[in-house]
Amino acid sequence: MWKGLIQEFAEFLPVTNKTPKLTLQEGNTPLIHLPKLSEKLGIELYVKTEGTNPTGSFKDRGMVMAVAKAKEAGSDTVICASTGNTSAAAAAYAARANMKCIVLIPDGKIAFGKLAQAVMYGAEIYAIQGNFDHALTMVRNISEKLPITLVNSVNPYRIEGQKTAAFEVCEQLGSAPDYLAIPVGNAGNITAYWKGFKEYNEKKQTGLPKIHGFQAEGAAAIVRGEPIENPETIATAIRIGNPASWETAVKAKEESNGKIDSVTDEEIIEAYQLIAREEGVFAEPGSCASIAGLIKHRKLGLIKEGSKVVAVLTGNGLKDPNTAIDVSEIKPIVLPNDEEVFLNQLNGVTVQ
Ligand code: F0G
Repeated sequence: MWKGLIQEFAEFLPVTNKTPKLTLQEGNTPLIHLPKLSEKLGIELYVKTEGTNPTGSFKDRGMVMAVAKAKEAGSDTVICASTGNTSAAAAAYAARANMKCIVLIPDGKIAFGKLAQAVMYGAEIYAIQGNFDHALTMVRNISEKLPITLVNSVNPYRIEGQKTAAFEVCEQLGSAPDYLAIPVGNAGNITAYWKGFKEYNEKKQTGLPKIHGFQAEGAAAIVRGEPIENPETIATAIRIGNPASWETAVKAKEESNGKIDSVTDEEIIEAYQLIAREEGVFAEPGSCASIAGLIKHRKLGLIKEGSKVVAVLTGNGLKDPNTAIDVSEIKPIVLPNDEEVFLNQLNGVTVQ
């Protein structure tokens, strides 16, 4: 049985014999081949489906480490700012570790499923009339004033946990891919993957990918080279104007000979619908920045034909049911409670 990240990857993690063996059996997520999109794009494309983690996003990898280390250090409360997924993961692992969890979210700008999770796991939730960047500044300051552990990705244990996804990709493919496409928000995950690929390559000679990170156009601070005061995108997960791990994201791009680029909301939504309808994979909009980006980079010739590409799908599609319903032209056809009417309706459909 899979034992979760702390036990499975102990040799690569800052684990001591005092670290609690906290787990919800996070990690070990599927790497799924996308045959139709591979053929269309002339590449070998796989998606790392992080939405299959216990709370439905990659945040569980970092949070299991951050919460376990907070517990080990004797802390009884964790705090985070979040666009939704971090708060869901923090609340779940805090509940599991008998700790209190305080979350600060941008009011009205987090997907409904994520809010439902934080509520269910029993977090103390505050919604500010500001954005993620404001919330992060507040919790960073407050965690210095109060005996509370900050579990945003500026906490180095978060990066440690999240780097394990790169290990899994190498194991699943037999080596690192040629390219890794990844959404960029606060830029912790791109930092973590690059660290993971480097460490695994050092120990197991699995090679290194070129890292292609993608921001939403209305929140593309790194691409523009300056913070964005009022970031906007339909992909609320990555609605961030001043990424905390900006420098290490640029380093990942430069060291790997990769790129950081932006994709429009239209491109994100197109990719979101494409992988669901053609490949049966439902990932939240923010996740699909990776797919939108690799499609863009194939068209521009920035990803070579025939190459092996892994796109990270960071969160489950069910996290954001409202966007799914809003963008879909498919609506339920309402019928009376009558089998014959239903049969006629179906016959009508087949005859058309
Ligand atoms: N994809 C999803 C689904 C996310 O929730 C996030 C970040 C990212 C991508 C970007 O990852 O920040 O490491 O560059 N969500 C954070 C949150 C900000 O609060 O849940 P990153």
